[in-house]
Amino acid sequence: MNHIIFYFPQDEKLAKKIAKKLNLDLADAIFRRFPDEETYVQINTNVENKNVILICSLKHPDMKLLPIIFFAETVRALGAKSIGLVAPYLAYLRQDTQFKPGEAVNSKIFGTLLSRYIDWLITIDSHLHRHASLSEVYSIPAYNLHTANLIATWIEGNVDQPVLIGPDEESKQWVTGVAKHANIPYILLQKIRHGDREVEISVPQVAKYKKCTPVLVDDIISTARTMIETVRHLNNSGMRPTICIGVHAIFVNSSYQDLLKENIEQVVTCNTIQHPTNKIDVSELLAEQIMKI
Ligand code: R5P
Repeated sequence: MNHIIFYFPQDEKLAKKIAKKLNLDLADAIFRRFPDEETYVQINTNVENKNVILICSLKHPDMKLLPIIFFAETVRALGAKSIGLVAPYLAYLRQDTQFKPGEAVNSKIFGTLLSRYIDWLITIDSHLHRHASLSEVYSIPAYNLHTANLIATWIEGNVDQPVLIGPDEESKQWVTGVAKHANIPYILLQKIRHGDREVEISVPQVAKYKKCTPVLVDDIISTARTMIETVRHLNNSGMRPTICIGVHAIFVNSSYQDLLKENIEQVVTCNTIQHPTNKIDVSELLAEQIMKI
């Protein structure tokens, strides 16, 4: 392979796993901030005629966008053959329409901007809701991989009598995907979002699943309010403690600690964003897709 892998500091652990699977050495770059918070990027590995890959999960996207652009422009100037971004978590897909007059449609603006600087993109379980595919917002080849079978395998190996719970309409694609792989029953709830941190979840009808272990599945855990409100309903319905599974562990501020205060058995996430709850490894999934490019 004529590929070379760079990584953002927060993604070192995942980058090492991917590089090992691809039998590649990791390349060296410095990403840091000047005291005034401007960005500094330095490429320390020869990239001439190489297919350059940058692994950078997009939690805190605003802090990473400029470093990615500076990186891409610099490696291109140094003779890179192509530049691909592996963003296991891809940000700016939830604001995918104008909900109120005058709002920016972030998904399109962000996708258009990134597409100018990179040649391809790989991500995992991107939040596609009103957009049918990434090609509606990215003009470059953009591959959206899925963790449904990895999550299903984890549940099969770790949970006694599971029933999947999807907290809202948007979680349907993840819940039904996992349910199909592992042949597990599921319940989908309704969510009304009143604000960034205020959500209302419908009361689940769980009478026939009383002996099951509720496994809450969602793509993103951010403020964790969606999980917390759902866990409270399940608890009030007399269910066993809940297992909370999220693909992307964003966990803003104290949200992880807040979730741990609820009646839950455990929190499980994929390592698309590094977090103590990472139990499902996506490195093989990513390495396989990189090999096809
Ligand atoms: C949105 O519909 C997503 O699928 C998640 O449900 C949402 O992002 C979770 O956000 P939070 O953790 O802030 O409730």
